[in-house]
Amino acid sequence: MDIYNEEMLNDFIAENPLRFSEKRLSLVRRDFYEHKRGTVSDEFVDYVLWAEKSPARHEHFGDFLLPIIRDNSWSSILEVGCGETVLLSEYLYQELGNSVKITAMDQCEMQCDTSGIKIMNHKFTGTEDLTEYDAVIAQEPCDAAELIIKTCTEQNIPYCVILCGVPHARSSGVLDDDVYAWYAYLLSTYANSQFTIWHNGRFSSGCIYSEHGFDRKYFQGT
Ligand SMILES: C[S@@+](CC[C@H](N)C(=O)[O-])C[C@H]1O[C@@H](n2cnc3c(N)ncnc32)[C@H](O)[C@@H]1O
Repeated sequence: MDIYNEEMLNDFIAENPLRFSEKRLSLVRRDFYEHKRGTVSDEFVDYVLWAEKSPARHEHFGDFLLPIIRDNSWSSILEVGCGETVLLSEYLYQELGNSVKITAMDQCEMQCDTSGIKIMNHKFTGTEDLTEYDAVIAQEPCDAAELIIKTCTEQNIPYCVILCGVPHARSSGVLDDDVYAWYAYLLSTYANSQFTIWHNGRFSSGCIYSEHGFDRKYFQGT
């Protein structure tokens, strides 16, 4: 499969399966033509997964989450940093329907036509009362990652966060030189956290989760 095939890129842009804005499509084009860069955008990862006919990032994480949500009989989930197209929450809602109340939060403008999802246009600050949620999930929430882990740890709420493939500043403001130093810092700082490398079929990054709710057994084969 040659992912650097212009016809394939043009098909992706024409079909636009993930409803990317023009700005996000331009990131796919940038990484397509400058693919010697060490780090690529999430949008380019999404393009590659689409080109290879693999599940999209949100489908991969969603399929992992569904049995956990069902096994735990969770009825209220918060997604932080859902992004402008709210894909993960929409996917979970399509599968779970109204059996679970899904709240999708982001500081950016969101487009979501699924009326069953509660949209919160809000910057997560760590001062939120999370006790109404059975669990908090996040897929590459950038700067919010540590805040989510810290707040959930303090309030004893199960969480599972797929971390970005680049480091984000610690709560102290320190920015680690490489992503593995950031992952190690998070794992050692938050007492009940567990860590695994998350493989989405093509790319990998870190995944940090609470030891309650997201039991280790679910991560076999990720
Ligand atoms: C890299 S994007 C990931 C979006 C989506 N989860 C995905 O995987 O495609 C990170 C998202 O986290 C959001 N975000 C970062 N910090 C946040 C905060 N403190 N509160 C809410 N959203 C935040 C950004 O606005 C952005 O939409």
